[in-house]
Amino acid sequence: MGLLLKVILPLMGLGLAVYFYSAPENFNEEMLRGKRVIVTGASSGIGEQMAYHLARMGAHVLVTARTEAKLQKVVERCRELGAASARFVSGSMEDTAFAEEVVKEAENTWGGLDMLILNHIGHSYFNYFDGDVDHIRKLLETNFLSYVAMTVTALPMLKESEGNIVVVSSVAGKAPGPFAAPYSATKFALDGFFSSLRHEFIIENVNVSITLCILGYIDTDNAMQAVSHAIKVAPSPKEECALEIIRSGALRQHEQHAVGCRWVPRVARWGEAARLAPPCPPGEGTQA
Ligand SMILES: NC(=O)c1ccc[n+]([C@@H]2O[C@H](COP(=O)([O-])OP(=O)(O)OC[C@H]3O[C@@H](n4cnc5c(N)ncnc54)[C@H](OP(=O)(O)O)[C@@H]3O)[C@@H](O)[C@H]2O)c1
Ligand SMILES: *[C@@H]1O[C@H](CO)[C@@H](O)[C@H](O)[C@H]1NC(C)=O
Repeated sequence: MGLLLKVILPLMGLGLAVYFYSAPENFNEEMLRGKRVIVTGASSGIGEQMAYHLARMGAHVLVTARTEAKLQKVVERCRELGAASARFVSGSMEDTAFAEEVVKEAENTWGGLDMLILNHIGHSYFNYFDGDVDHIRKLLETNFLSYVAMTVTALPMLKESEGNIVVVSSVAGKAPGPFAAPYSATKFALDGFFSSLRHEFIIENVNVSITLCILGYIDTDNAMQAVSHAIKVAPSPKEECALEIIRSGALRQHEQHAVGCRWVPRVARWGEAARLAPPCPPGEGTQA
């Protein structure tokens, strides 16, 4: 009895304390219920699928892209799926003033924000670099500067809610390969900026998580049109990828690697790896 009181019970208590304070929280779709979320580039592809998952989970969603007609349909579908609310703002992220306006819209309608999912990309080409400097400048505005502008405008709200910033990047933003120099440059810029900012948040005790998602090849119409002639592996499903992104953001992970595929984090030259890698069956998603 003495032994039980003096040793075993305190040990059990300690064990339980360690368990509760250190156990990584498991993902639960309830985490998103009632959350106020902005998704950019949500008129098609992975962004559209993220909007549908969030709607299903009962979040408030604000979607944005340029094409109003598509956004209108996405919003309708979100309402059908059970979104707490759904709305859109249309415009081009080439203009940082528009990027800020989207965040202001969230502030005006919700009075706050819980998750900012930065996902849109401007159109680029998959080929040898053609020397067009202007294209790179524009692509940086769209793929990089607008992400920074939205983050700056959203930060007071995200600090208040202890929210999440989710930045969608690519293998091409970690390991350079051929035929995507402008795109790759913009994705590397995201890593430099947001990974640096994450360090500052940690130093300053700013409890806003930043999740950088390193995606492999995903079966969106635009991606398949651009690279299916060159990359012979089977792309991973966009629905699954979209869910992985939301999950890693909600769990406040720093990086989410190669959604949908196992091989990517270990390769230095993804152009080569893409030809060598075996097709990746659905459900094979992994976190490195
Ligand atoms: N699919 C892949 O294989 C793959 C691989 C690695 C990384 N990723 C990343 O995943 C994310 C989503 O890719 P995705 O394949 O789903 O792309 P996607 O289907 O081409 O969607 C791009 C979205 O961005 C919007 N957009 C394009 N130009 C814009 C502009 N100037 N201003 C505002 N919005 C604009 C598009 O809508 P509008 O045309 O209506 O504006 C669309 O909603 C991107 O960050 C991409 O880099 C994808
Ligand atoms: C940071 O915010 C999350 C979400 O609100 C919370 O679970 C966590 O305990 C917070 N961490 C600190 C150190 O305050």
